[in-house]
Amino acid sequence: MKTDLFFYTGTGNSLWTARTMAKELGDAEIIPISGISREPVESRAEALGIIFPVHIWGLPGKVIAFTNALANDPSRYCFAVAINAGQVAATLLQLKKLMHSRGLSLSSGFEIAMPSNYIPWGGPGPEEKRIRRIDEAREKIGMISAAVAKREKRPVEKGPLWQNILFTWLNRLSFPHVPTMDRSFWVDEKCNACGICERICPSGNIELPADRPVWLHHCEQCLACIQWCPAEAIQFGKRTPRYERYHHPEVTLPEMLAISATRERNG
Ligand SMILES: Cc1cc2nc3c(=O)[nH]c(=O)nc-3n(C[C@H](O)[C@H](O)[C@H](O)COP(=O)(O)O)c2cc1C
Repeated sequence: MKTDLFFYTGTGNSLWTARTMAKELGDAEIIPISGISREPVESRAEALGIIFPVHIWGLPGKVIAFTNALANDPSRYCFAVAINAGQVAATLLQLKKLMHSRGLSLSSGFEIAMPSNYIPWGGPGPEEKRIRRIDEAREKIGMISAAVAKREKRPVEKGPLWQNILFTWLNRLSFPHVPTMDRSFWVDEKCNACGICERICPSGNIELPADRPVWLHHCEQCLACIQWCPAEAIQFGKRTPRYERYHHPEVTLPEMLAISATRERNG
């Protein structure tokens, strides 16, 4: 009973979740969404999972595009895992509706709170809290994997009603501006033009024409560039020089670069 786990990630939380689930499930393959260039997206597996971070209380643009490109096979068991920092809001409802509009159904949708990578609002929090969240996430992945193995159908998980109304409204207001939010990135004197930012960006949104990164305004706000910069030279707005960087402790830069390379190969 094969499962395909499609994932999108900026700082590794979703990749780690996909990898941990694959181990739990056994016959499962993990596939980066950012490496997919062919449409429709076909899968021969009996079950298909979509694992992604919540961005501004909703789906990242890449996940919307992926869902729109999914081949229509209503018989397949589809589930989703929305990785977040404590406010999943109505993200999984948004995905369910999107899939429904395409004749697909989302049989179950789970949320997992992990350390926050949204550095414009602060660092990832104290280390004990991060470790606790990752331990709790591991436990929840076990529960989700058991439900997926049994092909359980469940209502999607969501936040409280006030969050779903207010944050969905904020998501709709913000979403069109995401590609140009990269205007707030800048580099300080620590930049040594290593080019990691250009290679790691899952959207091909960064170039280094004169030994300094330039953002091209089709940003997805995954924050991989700022969080993985080895020199911590990339900043966003005024406050990030003060904040600690974050990526999942069990995900490495070479692994992230290998994922980006699949995007480059597939064009
Ligand atoms: C642009 C952006 C917006 C975010 N918005 C939310 C949000 O609305 N709710 C939330 O709980 N976490 C939010 N986060 C935090 C991420 O969802 C969370 O840290 C996630 O675990 C990151 O997963 P990744 O490492 O796979 O990219 C946001 C992160 C980014 C970069």
